[in-house]
Amino acid sequence: MSLEQLLETIPRGAPDEALAREVNFEALPRHIAIIMDGNGRWAAQRHLPRVEGHRAGIESVRDVVETSARLGIGALTLYAFSVENWKRPVTEVTALMALLKRYLRLELDAINRNNIRFQVIGRTDELSADVLQELAAGQEATAGNSGMTFNIALNYGGRAEIVDAARRAIDAGIASADLDEQKFSQLLYTAGQPDPDLLIRTSGEMRVSNFLLWQIAYAEIWVTDTLWPDFRRKHLLEAVLAYQKRDRRYGGIKPTPALTR
Ligand code: FPP
Repeated sequence: MSLEQLLETIPRGAPDEALAREVNFEALPRHIAIIMDGNGRWAAQRHLPRVEGHRAGIESVRDVVETSARLGIGALTLYAFSVENWKRPVTEVTALMALLKRYLRLELDAINRNNIRFQVIGRTDELSADVLQELAAGQEATAGNSGMTFNIALNYGGRAEIVDAARRAIDAGIASADLDEQKFSQLLYTAGQPDPDLLIRTSGEMRVSNFLLWQIAYAEIWVTDTLWPDFRRKHLLEAVLAYQKRDRRYGGIKPTPALTR
């Protein structure tokens, strides 16, 4: 979108305004992926149950989804629940699923207003019927939108996704000689979307945690100590500005005047 559309939501004179004005709209990341981390620690710091951290994290989700759409990001992927997260106490898993359903129900209008196409990636067939129904309703209601694609990674694992893609290749009878990186990427959950240019992780952990393993091959990684429930537009803009200062070489070398002569 544009600076004007972004500024519509920023109070005049707020620190975010200066950050927004620094963004180069010609060099935005096409896809931003976020590992939302630190909800439990945020709750613990306040002597609250872990679930309260997840609840507070919903406000960050709202802010980041709207800001990304207004910025003009092509795709945004949020890591909401991994294939490993089933190991958490059943009360936490149930609360997370309930929060997700509630988020979708309450935010569908705003998602549509912002012309966002909502999609779920992961082994969705293993989710319960009520969650699946809400997800399907969200995907159907936004399928015609032409703006940002908003992926929620749910029951998602990067290795599981690669195995699923390999199974699809076999099921489709693709001969091994016909398979290349380009074709394989079209068998992933994110088929048709650009790979993330920017991977953000909150709460200071330096891990990729089985997230979009294939797609982040050349992503720039930006880690902040900010816990997810405290993450807001300001932090997203800081990440985009840091990304725009990176020197991306994709395994090549930086051209110098001497070499290009
Ligand atoms: C990581 O924090 C966070 C999660 C596993 C879940 C994130 C989910 C939400 C913010 C709510 C629903 C999402 C959407 C997209 C509507 P953690 O619990 O691992 O934190 P810790 O490392 O501090 O314990």
